[in-house]
Amino acid sequence: MKRLEGRIALISGTARGQGRAAALRFAAEGALVVGGDLLHEEAVETQRPIAREGGTALAPGPLDVTDEASVGSWVAEAVDAFGGIDIVYANAGAVRFGGIGSQPYEDFAFTMRAEPDSVWPTVRAAWPHLAHSRGCVLTVGSTAGLTGSLTNLRTARSAAKGGVIAPGRQLAAEGAPYGIHGSARSHA
Ligand SMILES: NC(=O)c1ccc[n+]([C@@H]2O[C@H](COP(=O)([O-])OP(=O)(O)OC[C@H]3O[C@@H](n4cnc5c(N)ncnc54)[C@H](O)[C@@H]3O)[C@@H](O)[C@H]2O)c1
Repeated sequence: MKRLEGRIALISGTARGQGRAAALRFAAEGALVVGGDLLHEEAVETQRPIAREGGTALAPGPLDVTDEASVGSWVAEAVDAFGGIDIVYANAGAVRFGGIGSQPYEDFAFTMRAEPDSVWPTVRAAWPHLAHSRGCVLTVGSTAGLTGSLTNLRTARSAAKGGVIAPGRQLAAEGAPYGIHGSARSHA
């Protein structure tokens, strides 16, 4: 028996990078993967190796995780296709780096919106389904949300990833009565 046999996993940002890697890995462990990305064609491309290996993956429509309507359709497609949601892996994110003395406010504001908003609408839309399945939420932090750096100029990213890490603790508290559990990954 594979570790995620039959689990329905919603993973954002599956066009490339860690989201693509997660989609392949979750499918190899038996999960039914519902991916999605702004880069829709690349997200669909991620399905091919999964299908070749006999796994199951969908990437319905272009997904913008910062747009509630887009996320609502994505979650509905997952539930229509598989009957529920067991795992939400809110992986997608976007960032503009820059130092406090030089970064334009527009770039700061973009990052401040993109990172937390990549998590909240997705988790919110999936929450009733996770409560039903006693499911799991995975969010992706960063050392930027935990430490300062001498070499990586990242004030906006630090603030934004702090805005991902802190609500993770609150989600754990609010999810506990429903059996929803979670994990916040933080890495370089
Ligand atoms: N790579 C690193 O070193 C690193 C370090 C710390 C944290 N992280 C975090 O890990 C996660 C994945 O990082 P990655 O390196 O794979 O990034 P990446 O840029 O390679 O991939 C991110 C994916 O998310 C998608 N995306 C961005 N905004 C989106 C939106 N609004 N709607 C839908 N899809 C959207 C992009 O199109 C892309 O396919 C991110 O949350 C990132 O902040 C990465």
